[in-house]
Amino acid sequence: MRDWIRLSRSAIAEEEKQAVLSVLDKGYLGMGTEVMQFEQELEQFFSNKVSVVCVNTGTSALHLAIQACGIGLNDEVIVPSITYVASFQAISATGATPIACDIDLKTGCIDIEDARSKITRKTKAIMHVHYAGGVGNRSQAFDLAKEFKLRVIEDAAHSFGGKDGKSYIGEEGDITCFSFDGIKNITCGEGGAVVSSDQQLIATIKDLRLLGVERDSEQRYSGKRSWRFNVTQQGWRYHMSNLYAAIGRAQLRKINEFAIQRRKLAQLYKQNLSRLSLEFFDLDLNQVIPHIFPVLVSHGKRDALRDYLLSKKIETGIHYQANHLLTKYKQSGCPRSEYFSDNILTLPLHVNLTDEDIKYITMQILDFLKHEA
Ligand SMILES: Cc1ncc(COP(=O)(O)O)c(C=O)c1O
Repeated sequence: MRDWIRLSRSAIAEEEKQAVLSVLDKGYLGMGTEVMQFEQELEQFFSNKVSVVCVNTGTSALHLAIQACGIGLNDEVIVPSITYVASFQAISATGATPIACDIDLKTGCIDIEDARSKITRKTKAIMHVHYAGGVGNRSQAFDLAKEFKLRVIEDAAHSFGGKDGKSYIGEEGDITCFSFDGIKNITCGEGGAVVSSDQQLIATIKDLRLLGVERDSEQRYSGKRSWRFNVTQQGWRYHMSNLYAAIGRAQLRKINEFAIQRRKLAQLYKQNLSRLSLEFFDLDLNQVIPHIFPVLVSHGKRDALRDYLLSKKIETGIHYQANHLLTKYKQSGCPRSEYFSDNILTLPLHVNLTDEDIKYITMQILDFLKHEA
């Protein structure tokens, strides 16, 4: 009997288990030296061009990044409708309004002209979401932001380890947020990071992640905490724990190994699917580490294909529902996102998949399409 093929899955091995055990043995589970070392190692990964603040989720990274920009009530942030609801929730958590903008169907990323048309006097930032790991029209998003003096917050939850030109995502830019949840390119179990060269912003975020307690991060790095302190702003309990950081450090050492496997599997999908009437995103696998592998299944066949694959023990996903159709964020004017939302299907992709799995999945898709023709 064939096992289920999961859509995604964490790649945990002996190194991560040993790293967690060693933190457990030390008996210091909260935020301490392990987090500091993970931040330093991430900074080295980014050639020490930026500073890194680790937090407990990618959503809290986005929330703190927006808050630290001074964005809140009566402000607007432009964000593509096709993203995880976390992007929208992080914006609305600050009191600001997420303004949904349409996407470019070739990349799944923000459509620059639609973004331009949605800029108002209230707009303070553009959230550029790296869909599936691809950067889409990233440089045009920066040009647009420059023209209107907006901040750019990159939701790079999907793109850790990928590059834009010669630089790693996070190395250049304004503010970049990563997620290290269980299924991301590297995981901490749960976790996230804000990355920026704006030192004032970084200092603010370090305080905000620890309930606004001023300079508490420095104390925690040396296993202490502040007993007498001041608070001047609303903070949150969003810091990362040593346990999470230990897993993250072990994972970071394997990023090249993970990249090779993810790229190999995506390449195999590309070869096999190019014969079928399915559109996929032609990510540049020399640059991108594909996080998910979405395909567009037109002619209203997406849900039937999804059911068929389920009957063959293949799990699939939908990345994503259009956020502007959700009750809380109801807006109009994103037709391509609606089309995308109705037709997108995510095929399994994680480092534990084999070439055989990809062949089996594409064979099942082929069978389905033959019967449907
Ligand atoms: C595009 C995008 N943004 C934000 C997040 C939020 O990250 P986290 O789950 O770590 O809070 C995710 C996670 O799935 C995501 O895919």
